[in-house]
Amino acid sequence: MSFDIIRCVHLSKSFLNLAVLKDIDLAIPTGSIFMILGPSGCGKTTLISIIAGILKKDSGTCMLLNHDLDHMSSKELTAFRGKNIGFVFQNYHLISTISVLDNAMVPLLINGVDEVVAKNKAREILSKVGLSNREHLYPDQLSGGEQQRLAIARGVIHEPKILICDEPTAALDHETGDQVVGLISNMNKNFQTTAVIVTHDHRILKYADYIAHIEDGRIVSIEQPKKDNA
Ligand SMILES: Nc1ncnc2c1ncn2[C@@H]1O[C@H](COP(=O)(O)OP(=O)(O)OP(=O)(O)O)[C@@H](O)[C@H]1O
Ligand SMILES: [Mg+2]
Repeated sequence: MSFDIIRCVHLSKSFLNLAVLKDIDLAIPTGSIFMILGPSGCGKTTLISIIAGILKKDSGTCMLLNHDLDHMSSKELTAFRGKNIGFVFQNYHLISTISVLDNAMVPLLINGVDEVVAKNKAREILSKVGLSNREHLYPDQLSGGEQQRLAIARGVIHEPKILICDEPTAALDHETGDQVVGLISNMNKNFQTTAVIVTHDHRILKYADYIAHIEDGRIVSIEQPKKDNA
């Protein structure tokens, strides 16, 4: 039976007197690849940050896996996020003082996975994003595209039920962009990971089950494209 893994009702958010999200209703089906498109400044990052429990909303409700994050203590929220959510930030948010390998391992260590197991898994995932020969470097020694791939590796390493990505291909060339979204698509197929992807990149829309268009803080349409053999 499928249900909506993410459900937002009457979600609103303002910064000072700027209304950024206006009464958003959104249901994201379990196991789907759900892409969000819209012009710069329309509220995409704000929306997914609220969904992930990183940012507080002003009003409305947001349920993830049938849990209302508002009802959790900060400790419960950290544990819930660590287990169930992978988040790939628009500006990566890598930890500059630790190596590429250690960055990739962080979500597993947070979840209490043994260090040797975590290291092996990190090497496996770094190889999938083409960073095997960069594991001992520090994030600021990587190119922008390499940092983006590391952020994606870190977002998926713990096989979260929900993966939220903010412009995951923005710094990548076509081929590499296709590879990383292919990785997300494989996780979707193999583990039923629900992927919520904010993008401007029309080349990756072929992977989408749903495409939501946001304008000026409102969802104006949701289309369900017929998938080709992505
Ligand atoms: N912490 C903040 N304080 C004040 N205003 C903010 C804050 N965060 C975002 N905003 C404003 O909210 C609006 C929406 O920002 P948001 O980052 O959600 O846009 P976006 O759709 O992700 O844009 P982009 O495609 O450029 O990443 C913008 O006008 C932005 O200036
Ligand atoms: Mg943004």
